[in-house]
Amino acid sequence: MYLEKYRLDGRVAVVTGGASGIGWCVADALAEAGANVVIADLEHAALNTAVAALSRPEALQRGVVEGVVLDVTDSARVTEVADEIAARQGRIDILVNNAGIALSDIDAEDMTDARWLKVLDVNLSGTFWCARAFGRHMLSRGSGAIVNVGSMSGFIVNRPQGQAHYNASKAAVHHLTRSLAAEWGARGVRVNAVAPTYIATPLNAFADPEAPMFRRWIDSTPMGRLGQPEEVASAVLFLASDAASLMTGAIVLTDGGYTCW
Ligand code: NAI
Repeated sequence: MYLEKYRLDGRVAVVTGGASGIGWCVADALAEAGANVVIADLEHAALNTAVAALSRPEALQRGVVEGVVLDVTDSARVTEVADEIAARQGRIDILVNNAGIALSDIDAEDMTDARWLKVLDVNLSGTFWCARAFGRHMLSRGSGAIVNVGSMSGFIVNRPQGQAHYNASKAAVHHLTRSLAAEWGARGVRVNAVAPTYIATPLNAFADPEAPMFRRWIDSTPMGRLGQPEEVASAVLFLASDAASLMTGAIVLTDGGYTCW
């Protein structure tokens, strides 16, 4: 009765930014649970690699994985893709708003307009365009689950690197999550978020593991290590599934204890 709630057989899931890092593992987790997954990503070549790696038709009870090239900042294209998937698959059950960028390690006084706007555009506006476009289809069927990938940076200010733009974008994603949850709760669409610590993905490749900055990250984390993308994907799978049927508007920390200190 309980484990069955994690199964997603026959459901259609869309994962933005699924060609790398956390999104890749989320797509893998949802497909393993039986969902048919559409990975939507900016990077054409990386998308093809991800789809090929995650398509394992021989695995019993595993959903199909396909890809679509999408820039989440292009709101018109986001709507087009949402309508096209809904028309072809007949339903959209799950949206994971994972596409995000950091462009981190910049002091606020040196921030250019372009850098600020780019991060807000992808992390916040892209999340909203997708929630609006895919959410409409969920609302019309009276059911759906959206999981936004926020960050512990929406709760705390990272040290030592400056990243005011990123932190502000993720705090906004968290409050957008609650706002949509409140608006859509009675209409069958749940909206939650995960808030990870530093995860071992290309997004953090700017940090040299031998450098003092990296050591500071580890020393600031009670568990004393980076997270792995699979560990975030497990939490996303839970929130996307019926196991989380009473949860909406929650921001679930997957932070190795970082925010305890
Ligand atoms: P990543 O860089 O490995 O993957 C990001 C993916 O998003 C890439 O495939 C990229 O092509 C895609 N993408 C970027 N801009 C896009 C756009 N405009 N439209 C569509 N796709 C786009 O990054 P990672 O680490 O897997 O990050 C995923 C999410 O997790 C992001 O929202 C990030 O802010 C969040 N996060 C990451 C943490 C980390 O330490 N890695 C910590 C907390 C949150």
